Amino acid sequence: MKKRNIRRKITGYFLAGSLAVIVAVSSCSTSDKAQDMQNKPTVMAYEAQIDSLINLMTLEEKINMLHGTSSFTSGGVERLGIPELTMSDGPHGVRPEHGRDWSLDNAGNDSSTYLPTGIALAATWNPDLGYEYGAVLGREAKARGKDVILGPGINIMRTPLNGRNFEYLSEDPHLVSRMVVGYIKGVQDQGIAACVKHFAANNQEIKRAEVNVEMSERALRELYLPGFKAAVEEADVLTVMGAYNKFRGQYATHNEYLVNNILKGEWGFKGLVMSDWGAVQNTMEAALYGNDIEMGTDLLQMPNIDYNKFLMADTLLSLVKSGQVDQKLIDDKVRRILRVMFSTNMINGSRSDGALSTKPHQQTALKVAEEALVLLKNEKNLLPLNKASVKSIAVIGANATRKQGMGGGSSQVRSPYEVTPLDGIKRLAGNGVAITYAPGFEVTREEKANQQLIDEAVKAAKGAEVVVYVGGWTHGYTDNWDGGAFDAEGADKPNMNLPFAQDQLLDAVLKANPRTVVVLIGGGPLDMSRWESRASSILQAWYPGMEGGTAIANVLFGEVNPSGKLPVTFPKKLQDAPAHALGEYPGDKDTVNVHYREDIFVGYRYHDTYKVAPQFGFGHGLSYTTFGYSNLKAAKNGEGVAVTLTVKNTGKAAGAEVVQLYVKDTEAAVKRPEKELKSFSKIFLKPGESKEVSVNLPKEAFQYFDEAKMQWVLEPGSFIIMAGSSSQDIRQSAEISL
Ligand code: BGC
Repeated sequence: MKKRNIRRKITGYFLAGSLAVIVAVSSCSTSDKAQDMQNKPTVMAYEAQIDSLINLMTLEEKINMLHGTSSFTSGGVERLGIPELTMSDGPHGVRPEHGRDWSLDNAGNDSSTYLPTGIALAATWNPDLGYEYGAVLGREAKARGKDVILGPGINIMRTPLNGRNFEYLSEDPHLVSRMVVGYIKGVQDQGIAACVKHFAANNQEIKRAEVNVEMSERALRELYLPGFKAAVEEADVLTVMGAYNKFRGQYATHNEYLVNNILKGEWGFKGLVMSDWGAVQNTMEAALYGNDIEMGTDLLQMPNIDYNKFLMADTLLSLVKSGQVDQKLIDDKVRRILRVMFSTNMINGSRSDGALSTKPHQQTALKVAEEALVLLKNEKNLLPLNKASVKSIAVIGANATRKQGMGGGSSQVRSPYEVTPLDGIKRLAGNGVAITYAPGFEVTREEKANQQLIDEAVKAAKGAEVVVYVGGWTHGYTDNWDGGAFDAEGADKPNMNLPFAQDQLLDAVLKANPRTVVVLIGGGPLDMSRWESRASSILQAWYPGMEGGTAIANVLFGEVNPSGKLPVTFPKKLQDAPAHALGEYPGDKDTVNVHYREDIFVGYRYHDTYKVAPQFGFGHGLSYTTFGYSNLKAAKNGEGVAVTLTVKNTGKAAGAEVVQLYVKDTEAAVKRPEKELKSFSKIFLKPGESKEVSVNLPKEAFQYFDEAKMQWVLEPGSFIIMAGSSSQDIRQSAEISL
């Protein structure tokens, strides 16, 4: 693995809101869940024991707990039976072992379940699956001897170019919040700590350690913080990772406003804040402004790294000794670490073994992938393919055979196997269908089209009844972490175009055989303008994990009815994305300030309010069946609004629909978005079946953040409640006065 030359290691159910109807299938048995719950950490139950331990510790021992002691551990106190805290990435599988000093890179024997990545999980719109996903991670982390899993990653998708969007969840704070709570509870019910990251405003990889993010208080409160707040207040997350970037002039990981005032103050967070790897920049600020553990190893110094040189090691010790830093601050940090240790049974309890790479875990990976795939388009009903009648398929595109698990950066996972799209299609199609494969493009640094590969692909396309094109993005130029390209940590995508001259290839393939289904791998939107109108069927597959190929085949052949919905807007072109329309990316060249001038108008909040038509809107996703919406009723219910509606499967296939509820404020003192997602429910319906969805929208669903008053306000007046199959496909609406 190539390592990058910067300080740090490398690179450098829950119901959706208040929905009353959720019918989600869970592969966890009730007894599993009951067992899981027994492990549930209770953070404040050990204060007396913690007091006694702190009283026994020397200052040196305390300081030793506040920084890294190897690539993925922070210090313990052997004398007192306090172990090191052992961490692992995260967020979609337990990362391969790297050894204390990174010497074990790629040593093997350290596989784990490779789950679909964050954006795929969010595309399921199924918080129950979030729980199952987290439970897999928790059990596997435990089996691998870890105490903390470094996930979920939940930064808001502000730009389509962010290299880590694939790890994150959504552009929408409500969707993020609902998915994050399930994930964290799933992890922590196994007695393992989750680590929600990166707090906060880490919305780009380019210059991530230098940018200073400036945004309004309203944008912070309405968009960028709610996921973290839900993680703390609803899921009781035990650890938080501070981001690399600055926020309003101060590094986020020791930012007085973000960490002390909001996270630990307003939200009452009792767990620990660790820095991102190498993110601590200043000892005094780290001491004062809430950073509890400094993590990150300097590769340049390996293997002879001196951990006493960490900013929160000897320097901090001398600041305390000289009276410049109050010992109480040190005790508070130690207390927070001990809380995490006690509540995960690291100190006085015993842990069950956990489980690694089990069949049920792989089945969870499959189930998430199946619910994550988004059928963007199926104009001529090319899908589902009929195995009994289709005689030949040409699978075209290098992503059909590419394994993705080890790419992307710190989130890499070495799974025992990875079913590629070609494997999945071949297995499902069986011997009765002739399958040919042509790569069509090469994953190389030269963006040039390879004419020979295109010619071969065209020949294969002409010779087959149907083409399944598998392209899109990838994590990098090799199938390991090679420092970042496209969907990868440490860099952003250069643009929104299909890489490796795929536009040219797709153009030729679509001409050769219009019966082409386009399957896209990748961490978010890409510019489809050169071929979209000629592609009648498009399936968005994200990074679907180790069973991704099985899931893709199941959807292509109709074994599974697609039910995924876009967790992020797909704009037609990059300039249609608000940060880019305003030229506010990647920030000022000299000052490295990035002003979030689009404010709260990110994603569909922008597209819908400013009437910029997207390619595919937030919440969009088709099914092989159809759903009818009727009888939407809204009535005041205490401080909130009770909403009911009926949804019916009006087609011939069983399927799931994500019923989305949006709210619009008709008149307000501030500009408010055309609509905002406030609740959703994924319901499974047999053909002809109908269900009543009943939701209680709390008063918060109608509020905005008033910057003058520095509080959430509900302005009396009329609100429109919209029920839709996507943000662009509103089926019913009702007006209510509050
Ligand atoms: C990433 C974190 C990750 C950490 C440890 C950092 O570069 O930003 O997300 O958890 O490394 O690998």
